[in-house]
Amino acid sequence: MTDAEAPGAPRIGGDRTMESRKASGSRIEGFYRMDHRERLVALAKHAGLTAEEMAELEKAKPLPFEVADNMVENAIGVVGLPLAVALNFLINGRDRFVPMAVEEPSIVAAASSAARLVRKAGGFTAEADPSLMIAQIQLMSFGDMERALAGLRAAEAKLVAAANEVHPNMRKRGGGALRVELRPLPETPAGPMLICHLVVDVGDAMGANALNTMAEAIAPLAEEASGGEARLRILSNLADQRRGRARARIPFELLAAKDFSGEQTAHRLVEAWAFAAADPYRAATHNKGIMNGIDAVAIATGNDWRSIEAGAHAYAARDGRYGPLTRYAIDGDALLCEIELPLAVGIVGGHLEINPGARIALRLLGVESARELSAIMAATGLAQNFAAMRALATDGIQKGHMALHARGLVVAAGAPADLVDQITRRLIDSGEIKLSKAREILQEEQLES
Ligand code: MEV
Repeated sequence: MTDAEAPGAPRIGGDRTMESRKASGSRIEGFYRMDHRERLVALAKHAGLTAEEMAELEKAKPLPFEVADNMVENAIGVVGLPLAVALNFLINGRDRFVPMAVEEPSIVAAASSAARLVRKAGGFTAEADPSLMIAQIQLMSFGDMERALAGLRAAEAKLVAAANEVHPNMRKRGGGALRVELRPLPETPAGPMLICHLVVDVGDAMGANALNTMAEAIAPLAEEASGGEARLRILSNLADQRRGRARARIPFELLAAKDFSGEQTAHRLVEAWAFAAADPYRAATHNKGIMNGIDAVAIATGNDWRSIEAGAHAYAARDGRYGPLTRYAIDGDALLCEIELPLAVGIVGGHLEINPGARIALRLLGVESARELSAIMAATGLAQNFAAMRALATDGIQKGHMALHARGLVVAAGAPADLVDQITRRLIDSGEIKLSKAREILQEEQLES
């Protein structure tokens, strides 16, 4: 008996059985041509999706209104976003199905196609720092800077112990507050300030609430030690001690394109990266492409993508000038691609309890720690960037983009599911990828049938 036939597993209709499809790890041939149920059955087989999880995904109703209403104020509805899975990812020798929630066509296909190429080169290697976050306490009116600094240094053990008292379980799990780091800011528009950083290992959580609670709890002690007055007490989204990184080494022969040799393509990618390294206008777009992938995984897994965005862009400007989050170089007869950025992500926390979709996404990924999730997100960002750069540096991206855009227009024009493929083909062939043209072709098709 195959898994697809197991009791409780939905059966697949039609003549396209799972057995007829080739799959190896996270690579499932023809996944994009399957219908909804077939894809879920394939994931049940290859990623261990349970019957309950399949039923949850099949409903495609991610959030009951009652839950939404308890999440934010003044809720009036729920917004939908496609949840997809990027295939072919081989990261540190392990296959991963990468869940992505995103509205822009071509992102999932681009990530899967880059991952397919990189897996032929041995896959991505990826890793992440321990989950160290920073809470900031802004101190003012402390008088002499040196004396305030010395007072805080002398009180470090007391400050750390007081922070751990408010979250004793974090400490018991091997994390918790670790140290204090001091940042004197002698000249600001509001006069001298002394910023006290509390560095905390938040383990598998994103950690925002714990950090903010700790900062507020120890602020009176920091005031006493510095002789100053505390103002802001809040985490920093520049989580630069919690970075994820990934790399891939792609031999030239895998990079050959229609009009370019592999070596030419590799050099064009390095030139494309150098453009971003030299020009913030380009770097912003370059990094947007990276965040297309990272945000999509963050949203799918219920993480705070705004904090990740804030951290990524602040890190990109760490040298005083905004630059790219990836790096490309020629390494012998191969192209070396690398990424590094702060990734404050969690796999535990209240938000996951009320978000069944995020729980399923994490299960699909098979991650057991926040660090593992961070490493996978770094690899996804690199895949996304590589796909965009390869297209931009060779044929340009509009051909592929417009083909996917055309499908969206055909659906928007109201085409029934069985005509979408045919009308999309006609729309692309017409060379006029517009909603009005999609409507015109739909009318013709409907008159003919
Ligand atoms: C579009 O969403 C992302 C790109 O603009 C990224 C890039 O230019 O590198 C294609």
